[in-house]
Amino acid sequence: MAQTTEDYAGTIRLQDLWDDPYPIYRKLRATHPVAWVPATNRYLVTRYQDIVHLERHPEIFSAAEQDSLMIRVMGHTMLRKDGAAHLRERKAAEPSLRPRTIKEHWAPVFQKIADELIDGFYERGEADLFADYAGPMAARSLAAVLGLHDVDPQDLQTWSQSMMDGNGNYGDVPAVWQRAEAAARAVDQAVDAAIARLRSAPDHSVISSMLHADDPLTPQEMRDNTKMFIGGGLNEPRDVTAVALHALLAHPEQRALVETDPARFKDVVEESVRWVAPIGMYPRQTTRAVELGGTLLPAGARLGVVLGSANRDETVFENPDAFDITRQGRVHVGFGGGPHFCLGSWAARAQVGQISLPTLLRRLPGLRLSASEPVRYGGWVFRGPLNLPVRWEP
Ligand code: HEM
Repeated sequence: MAQTTEDYAGTIRLQDLWDDPYPIYRKLRATHPVAWVPATNRYLVTRYQDIVHLERHPEIFSAAEQDSLMIRVMGHTMLRKDGAAHLRERKAAEPSLRPRTIKEHWAPVFQKIADELIDGFYERGEADLFADYAGPMAARSLAAVLGLHDVDPQDLQTWSQSMMDGNGNYGDVPAVWQRAEAAARAVDQAVDAAIARLRSAPDHSVISSMLHADDPLTPQEMRDNTKMFIGGGLNEPRDVTAVALHALLAHPEQRALVETDPARFKDVVEESVRWVAPIGMYPRQTTRAVELGGTLLPAGARLGVVLGSANRDETVFENPDAFDITRQGRVHVGFGGGPHFCLGSWAARAQVGQISLPTLLRRLPGLRLSASEPVRYGGWVFRGPLNLPVRWEP
């Protein structure tokens, strides 16, 4: 008997999605673009057009998911609010992340961090650029942008990972909750210390903006939103940096293009975010019964908005599995869409495209992938490289 699409969705395992989700997405897009996938406990929305459509209708496809694990871990942040309540919090944080503030204030900070990190490992002639560069670069940059000067960047990475593990703790593992709660408490303390410092000495940081906004956020709102910033603003620039470096080192002809024309580093960032979307999936919930992509969804249906699939939709992107910085045409949805469009997109573009990538390629002569160990990838809700071993001639 022929296998139906429902049968297929029923066979999808979380481990398969983690290992390599793209063949699964290709099949879902072709046969059942809005599919109930039991292993994920959600309807997965995999086509580009359906995602663009749902982001145009936040009154039907709400970000305020009921019983959200993210709310349990981080409190009720702007990312899980709709309408005016969302806008109020977003507006308070936004001045720190405007293109002009980034150019004038954060780009020199990012440059200093990149140079210090490279100084630290230059003489070795080899490194794991994921652990030695992309991760600490993202952590130190985020600490600066948030205004968490006294926080150890390694702690920030641990807190981020612990809270994100909590957000995905569908298996209800007690040790995961304990680590997530400990991380959340540590962030609360760090934010309280920053508030005490910034109250009488405002600066360009996100916490300062939230504190001194026309409609200032309460201490609890600042603590919770800072948790969300740490969960959502660290792994993504880290992963995009690692994806971009891996792709450029594996495609010498594209590396030559950016080395002759550094203006193209911005194409490298966009293509890297498209090719391996760091946020591969995020949740939404229907406020009423509605049809999407040929599937009738009941009110309260939990959706997984699969950006990692939309960015490889063959009806939108030619040869979608190829990394190609010269591709023209439609924009990817890797930064999301609608009211929750990534608030840190300009900071991420500057950090990765203007500083992290060009500085590294300029400073490490003969940079190449190490032959001793392959680059491994993992994840589907969040996806990226797990290592990036390289060599150069100091
Ligand atoms: C290339 C790196 C990044 C990617 C691909 C990315 C992607 C995204 C996506 C897809 C969303 C929407 C999530 C949803 O609707 O559920 C989002 C939201 C957000 N991002 Fe990013 N992000 C990146 C870097 C950053 C950075 C560096 C920051 C902070 C400095 C940041 C701060 C935020 C915030 C605050 C939101 C929530 C906005 C809102 O709810 O209105 N992101 N990001």
